[in-house]
Amino acid sequence: MNKILITGANGLLGQKLVLLFSTMENTAVIASGKGPLRINFQNVTYLDVDLANRNEVFAAFIKVAPTHIIHAAAVTQVDLCEHDNEMCWRNNVIASENLIELAEELDAYFQYISTDFVFDGTDGPYKETDQPHPINFYGKSKHVVEQLLMKCQLDYAIVRTVLVYGVGQNLSRSNLVLWVKNKLENQEPIRVVNDQWRSPTLVEDLAKGCKLILEKNATGIFHISGKEYLTPYDIALQTAKIFGLDADLISPTDASTFKEIGTRPLKTGFDISKSIKELGFEPVSLQAGLMFIKDQLLSLRSE
Ligand SMILES: NC(=O)c1ccc[n+]([C@@H]2O[C@H](COP(=O)([O-])OP(=O)(O)OC[C@H]3O[C@@H](n4cnc5c(N)ncnc54)[C@H](OP(=O)(O)O)[C@@H]3O)[C@@H](O)[C@H]2O)c1
Repeated sequence: MNKILITGANGLLGQKLVLLFSTMENTAVIASGKGPLRINFQNVTYLDVDLANRNEVFAAFIKVAPTHIIHAAAVTQVDLCEHDNEMCWRNNVIASENLIELAEELDAYFQYISTDFVFDGTDGPYKETDQPHPINFYGKSKHVVEQLLMKCQLDYAIVRTVLVYGVGQNLSRSNLVLWVKNKLENQEPIRVVNDQWRSPTLVEDLAKGCKLILEKNATGIFHISGKEYLTPYDIALQTAKIFGLDADLISPTDASTFKEIGTRPLKTGFDISKSIKELGFEPVSLQAGLMFIKDQLLSLRSE
């Protein structure tokens, strides 16, 4: 029987991972988050643990002895990380160190969810073999953990992803697609960046990618994202089209016009040919992903 510990279970990806893995045979899922559980999971053990607290981590998880750990928890807000480096380090690096130590003690397989922001954005789309060079504190904190994993003796996979969108329950933060949709529904004009490039990723595809990697006990680095290479402005226009909203409210702008404290890399996005070839990973197009979440929102409304 596999026992899979999923961290960040209240977050966008964590929720989908718990839902996906809890349907697998011979698998027990242990979901973990900070504070009370915010989603209605069936047949899942939930543990409220601050991962940055080593004593809490060991007290909670040693006795459940997971065979696999998928570490999706992180502070993901770039500006917050830039503003409060200590808080970011605690939640992203110390928390991961505690889990890596736990995995070593239990000899558990470790999957770490990382980011396109480990790259500087001068030369995207990036392959797994390209050299990271983070340009903001969030990216640095994620890269430090990648380096820790590369030095340890565990079976590990680093799963990097890009601009994740989708629908979750009671999330602590939004995502580009939902932000655009909400603004346009309220008839608010928005300015959206047209000089950054990303490969937007439907959260359900990312969860499926994590599952493919875990099922194969695959090790090394994997880039898991959508296939398209688009600017946030392109994504906003497609969102308006699929949801039947007024695209005239969207104007393109340059990233330099935003006063953000954390610098964003300009051209990230991924070459996902390794994941397609080695895992059989096949993401949907942005158009199909938007149609999918439109249906999800309709069925949530009718519940
Ligand atoms: N979303 C993206 O566009 C994107 C892009 C690239 C990579 N990623 C990576 O993908 C992973 C999942 O991201 P996501 O979009 O699901 O983020 P999310 O919705 O912000 O979820 C992250 C979860 O981690 C929890 N967390 C943070 N610090 C913790 C701690 N010390 N102990 C326990 N839980 C803690 C957060 O708790 P609260 O809910 O209480 O805040 C949150 O529920 C992250 O590792 C992120 O770096 C995401």
